Amino acid sequence: MASTITGVSVGLGLSCSTTRKLNQKRNPSSSRLSFCSIKMAVSVEEEKKKKSFTLEKSEEAFSAAKEMMPGGVNSPVRAFKSVGGQPIVFDSVKGSHMRDVDGNDYIDYVGSWGPAIIGHADDEVLAALSETMKKGTSFGAPCLLENVLAEMVIKAVPSIEMVRFVNSGTEACMGVLRLARAYTGREKIIKFEGCYHGHADPFLVKAGSGVATLGLPDSPGVPKAATYETLTAPYNDIAAVEKLFENNKGEICGIILEPVVGNAGFIPPKPEFINAIRRITEENNALLIFDEVMTGFRLSYGGAQEYFGITPDLTTLGKIIGGGLPVGAYGGRREIMEMVAPAGPMYQAGTLSGNPLAMTAGIHTLKRLQKPGSYEYLDKITSELVQGIIDAGKKTGHAICGGYIRGMFGFFFTEGPVYNFADAKKSDTAKFARFYQGMLREGVYFAPSQFEAGFTSLAHTAEDIQKTIAAAESVLRQI
Ligand SMILES: Cc1ncc(COP(=O)(O)O)c(C=O)c1O
Repeated sequence: MASTITGVSVGLGLSCSTTRKLNQKRNPSSSRLSFCSIKMAVSVEEEKKKKSFTLEKSEEAFSAAKEMMPGGVNSPVRAFKSVGGQPIVFDSVKGSHMRDVDGNDYIDYVGSWGPAIIGHADDEVLAALSETMKKGTSFGAPCLLENVLAEMVIKAVPSIEMVRFVNSGTEACMGVLRLARAYTGREKIIKFEGCYHGHADPFLVKAGSGVATLGLPDSPGVPKAATYETLTAPYNDIAAVEKLFENNKGEICGIILEPVVGNAGFIPPKPEFINAIRRITEENNALLIFDEVMTGFRLSYGGAQEYFGITPDLTTLGKIIGGGLPVGAYGGRREIMEMVAPAGPMYQAGTLSGNPLAMTAGIHTLKRLQKPGSYEYLDKITSELVQGIIDAGKKTGHAICGGYIRGMFGFFFTEGPVYNFADAKKSDTAKFARFYQGMLREGVYFAPSQFEAGFTSLAHTAEDIQKTIAAAESVLRQI
């Protein structure tokens, strides 16, 4: 569906000129009106909140954490290395909001890095989990809930005829690479610069945000042999992909990519790019793998592949299908999936895989997403948010560009356009850090890195969005 893709890249507002087009689509007078009335109503309360903003308890907890856990965290990007200051330690989450241990409240655009698409701690999901829990938390044996979620995933995602559940996106990508190699009998894989496919050795080459944020080109401890067969190309660069196939004839098992990049900031594919990689993989008898750990059930119910109308051979999922519990999955055509043990010889296993709690949270999250209007709502609020921030940036004299698709968005402090990781790195990251710290004080929690996508949810309200835009304008005036 080339027309869909063309529509997307035009509507994304990734370059500054395209943002003007988005602007024309909105009704400026009505949004300005609601913006003003909300601003007046909340200003007194907001002023009080800003004065009382303190992170004393967070600081105390993080100092203790640093003594016990490397860097004080259990996943590097949480450590605020690229935005300065120290991480906020949280106490609870609900809907679109998070509350820290000092009692500060934030509108959240991280959504636990993607899973919280219907909002945090949804009442129906919590009720279903407590029912499931009464029957036990892990069977280590087949359970009916696995069938239910498997059926939902197979029905939803165009490329998936069979699925294997695992416990994280990293595991899903590890499994899918082994499968692609087993099925084709070839070892080389193409990945794109700035795309992250979890932290398994073969993928830790030019791997986007986490590594970029720490300024590490690669990770020590990854043996050369593990990445020897990993070939890389710039995102959106068809000629580079063609060259790799030419130079490695008959040796490449497939291409893996984020169909919309979220781990180098938000970068959508050019329509011609995503069409070309499908064609090139077919011409070379190689597999096309969409890593939809982030985009699955976020860009549409059938993921990026449904949104763009391109069917890959294999797909990885995670985040949303676990509804906030640890999960991952890989799936694809039946003849390929039947290579996986015990149906076939490719070994992959997991103690907690398919456990009833993760299955339950996933099932109820997907059920909510099936309700009519879910993706239209995400589209509407995210468009308003991104356009509002870009407008605020321009009004206050900053170079800024950004884009969104449904519930996924991002913006960079550069004129743009941004087509790949090298373009993304032109963003003024020092300015992003100042913006980030200002937004925290205003009660808005973005991902603590310029190179991460943001996420909205069904729980975000028009008021959340307008408050965020007002906060952004105020911060952008000061930095
Ligand atoms: C596209 C993509 N693939 C894989 C992963 C790894 O998933 P996990 O963190 O669950 O291991 C991530 C994590 O953010 C991701 O965004």
